[in-house]
Amino acid sequence: MRKEFILALDQGTTSSRAILFNKAGQIENIAQKEFTQIFPKSGWVEHNAKEIWSTQLAVLTEVIAQSKIKLDEIKAIGITNQRETTVVWNKKTGEPIYNAIVWQDRRTAEYCQSIAAKGLDKLIQEKTGLLIDAYFSASKINWILTHVDGARNLAEQGELAFGTIDSWLVYNLTSGQKHITDVTNASRTLLFNIHSLAWDEELLDIFDIPASMLPEVRSSSEVYGETSTELGSRAIPIAGIAGDQQAALFGQLCTQEGMAKNTYGTGCFLLMNIGKKPVISTHKLVTTVAWKIGDEVQYALEGSIFIGGAVVQWLRDELGIIRHSSDIEVLASKVSDTEGVYMVPAFSGLGAPHWNAEARGTIVGLSRGSSDAHIARAALESIAYQTYDILQAMEMDAPSRIKELRVDGGATQNNFLMQFQADILKTNVVRPAITETTALGAAYLAGLAVGFWEDIEQLKSLWQEDKTFVFDPEKNHEAQLHEWKRATETVKFWANY
Ligand code: G3P
Repeated sequence: MRKEFILALDQGTTSSRAILFNKAGQIENIAQKEFTQIFPKSGWVEHNAKEIWSTQLAVLTEVIAQSKIKLDEIKAIGITNQRETTVVWNKKTGEPIYNAIVWQDRRTAEYCQSIAAKGLDKLIQEKTGLLIDAYFSASKINWILTHVDGARNLAEQGELAFGTIDSWLVYNLTSGQKHITDVTNASRTLLFNIHSLAWDEELLDIFDIPASMLPEVRSSSEVYGETSTELGSRAIPIAGIAGDQQAALFGQLCTQEGMAKNTYGTGCFLLMNIGKKPVISTHKLVTTVAWKIGDEVQYALEGSIFIGGAVVQWLRDELGIIRHSSDIEVLASKVSDTEGVYMVPAFSGLGAPHWNAEARGTIVGLSRGSSDAHIARAALESIAYQTYDILQAMEMDAPSRIKELRVDGGATQNNFLMQFQADILKTNVVRPAITETTALGAAYLAGLAVGFWEDIEQLKSLWQEDKTFVFDPEKNHEAQLHEWKRATETVKFWANY
């Protein structure tokens, strides 16, 4: 039988990956390349957009070569990407006019405060589902237009294009033929009305951005175009696009209202499917488009934690108490509890549901007997506690309580963390057999568009739980949750003092 595949391009914050999936939704091959992180000033984070493209193209080529398949055996490409990261390029030359400003970049925090000070937060949240924050794209575009020589003039003459990373990849994959994005990425810009699913003129005025810069907004699953034959002898349809967290929600098959997933990467992103109507949060979460397939749109509530797995890297790289990230589980398990030590890893402020940009990391409760093991355990527990805070807020906003939390991302290999998570949430934590759910979600979206997979029901039959470890709630940690709350209050008090 002829083999057929879907290729997912997963352009993340630290690496570009290409993953080839077969019809059973299993991984055939992966290629990955890290790229340069640029920190020009404190709080600034940039990527070289051309390096993003060159690493993405390199892994695409590599995965095909490794797999020894013919180009026409790839039925479609699905794209998923780090969201909000902003690229502005010249439409004539295709050259970026500035580095990509990354979602983590805080340079526009003050500008965002000035927009909020105009009393626009309610209007903006109503239209976009988002809070006014430097995290999202609008203030980053505004910064480029204001600070790059000649940019504002060129933009007003219609000569500049803006795109999130999905747009930038499609633009390059099609040799400049397509300037598009999908609804999920558009919904992270602060310029997109999530009710009408269109760019919003009033928002463009507020952030002073010409409409001519914006990509055309498409659904998450349709044939948008084909790869240029300059890249390979045969054109491949590009048929799925979703921001990485929405793609993971889809890859986890959280397709029914009330289903939720948490991705444990550098940060953590918890998304809950809230169905066909956008619920605007009253507990500082954001509302986002989960996907649009055909005419059907699904929405999600989202809570973002800025420091998740990154706290483990900090223990490794800055404190040096572990050599490899995976060593943390053994170290943390040397003690049966933290003996009153709590760590709040607010290294770059606190994200949802606190949104405190000034907050900084803290360790409280140290005693003469506190050891590296107590600190390691407190660090791991902090990831679970932050997830708990978000889920608490989510359950106040959302109509239904979650039945289980589906998890993915690197830190889900840590069984101690997963069990602790289940305990404090008092909810089953479910790890799928394939934890590459972000790429899988993009592959599914592309595969549906070209008939590689028939429908969502078929995809559901492919999803499998990893049964080797089951994380059901066991212990009660009420007292610790109370102490964690006191620790976060201390951090906020310190920041605002
Ligand atoms: O919103 C930012 C998010 O999309 C980044 O995801 O996996 O690249 O860190 P990741």
